[in-house]
Amino acid sequence: MAGKTEQNDLRMLIESSIPLISIETHEEKRATVILKNATKPLKKWLFSWSITQGLKRLDLSTSLDPLPHTDSPEAVLKHISKADKPCVFILYDFHPWLDDDPQIIRQLREIALGYHKFGHTIILISHTLKMPAELKSITAVFEMQLPSKKQLENLIREEANNWSKSNSNHKVTTERKTLDLLISNLSGLTFHDARTLIKNIIYDDGAITEDELPEVNEAKFKLLEQDGVLTFEFETAKFSEVGGLNNLKRWLSQRQPVFHRLTGTEELDRPKGMMLVGVQGGGKSLAAKAVAGMWNVPLLRLDFGSLYNKYHGETEKNLRQSLKLAELMSPCILWMDEIEKGLATSDSDGGTSQRVLGTLLTWMAENDHAVFIVMTSNDINRLPPELIRKGRLDEIFFVDLPCEETRKEIFLIHLNKRNYQAENFDLHKLADQSHGFSGSEIEQAVVASLYSALAESVTLNTEILLKELNRTQPLSVVMSERIIQLRSWAKGRTVIAN
Ligand SMILES: Nc1ncnc2c1ncn2[C@@H]1O[C@H](COP(=O)(O)OP(=O)(O)OP(=O)(O)O)[C@@H](O)[C@H]1O
Ligand SMILES: [Mg+2]
Repeated sequence: MAGKTEQNDLRMLIESSIPLISIETHEEKRATVILKNATKPLKKWLFSWSITQGLKRLDLSTSLDPLPHTDSPEAVLKHISKADKPCVFILYDFHPWLDDDPQIIRQLREIALGYHKFGHTIILISHTLKMPAELKSITAVFEMQLPSKKQLENLIREEANNWSKSNSNHKVTTERKTLDLLISNLSGLTFHDARTLIKNIIYDDGAITEDELPEVNEAKFKLLEQDGVLTFEFETAKFSEVGGLNNLKRWLSQRQPVFHRLTGTEELDRPKGMMLVGVQGGGKSLAAKAVAGMWNVPLLRLDFGSLYNKYHGETEKNLRQSLKLAELMSPCILWMDEIEKGLATSDSDGGTSQRVLGTLLTWMAENDHAVFIVMTSNDINRLPPELIRKGRLDEIFFVDLPCEETRKEIFLIHLNKRNYQAENFDLHKLADQSHGFSGSEIEQAVVASLYSALAESVTLNTEILLKELNRTQPLSVVMSERIIQLRSWAKGRTVIAN
């Protein structure tokens, strides 16, 4: 499976008199195969070294014993510097000594600078490689390729055949659409990791089904994740769990085919993102989750708390890494909840949030991956104006308090969720009596009524719910001024989501 182009590129690097080559990869085996093939036509001896095996020849069909006294890094470098014939040396897992071992770094540097004399090429292979400044300028970085769509499909076929052979020739079942989704979900992974996930999905039941894809996405996320700034939200929602927001639902369903680049949508710009602003408890976070459910893509949440956490290091670097991860996870939804907490302009943080905003806006302008951003906010006073300028996001939606019809729907959703049937309730009356309630307050009323019903040992009924509604002072009353201000801000700047 070793790529021919990788092989050629690597051979050319070795031929171009570069003394040090670094390959940062988790795929040591694959890198070694490529190197063996790349060095074959060069007629140079190929050696490999590791702390456990010492130095040994790799280009022979019979395996020889390791050379004596080459176990330690000092010893092997000494050996290399004395070799009088130009050779290629692979050093596995050499990274610990590149960190802070001046003698090793100097030894490597001397071999490298003496290339004209020795002609040795040293190739470092580790899962992580940070070259010290002394070596950086004389090192070429070689990047291993990730599998293409075609190669991923071949991997799936290979593993399906393997499964078939060991299961009395039963064929692995799947559908073309699911297969395409799987291929797209595996992109961004190495050959090795992709194969592991493919095996997992096939070997349990000999089938590749659509309901296994979220697990693939989560496993992929875990393999790629480097810090805790992005989280994978396994729980998404269905739009049927969201009452109202009909305008938003229509807008999203129109954009779904374009987001997935289905045939016939190539000429349209791919949707970039949207913001939901509005009253507290109006269902903004719920709607963000529902976009992922509706479009059938993973939901990744950017946690601003961790982003700014000193423990995680440099804020902008964390953000760039997170955006990169989102690209690798594409197609996906990147959800930024309560954006005002992360991006509010304040003078107190030395301009960090301003720079974070800048990084984010630049990325959004340049991004051509299927990453759809969903931002939510309930505090317009703290939103940076640059963010809501026209053209940055595709649309800003205003989520207002639910109208009577929507309140009926929300009651229905939350009663059904708890296995109560609508016909046993007077939804009309409930909706009428819950004027000014948010979706979240309606849900809370249902929950509180269930407790009352339990305490009174009766089944939940309309009267208990009405009593609970009368007891509640909705936020819209307590914060009526804020809601008026929100509405007037939203006019002309936003589109009504309800
Ligand atoms: N339109 C709705 N339909 C159904 N349930 C709703 C709706 N709005 C709110 N809810 C219920 O209320 C819960 C809380 O709502 P959610 O967290 O989505 O509101 P929010 O707008 O994000 O609020 P905040 O501004 O406080 O973050 C939801 O999980 C859901 O159970
Ligand atoms: Mg919310």
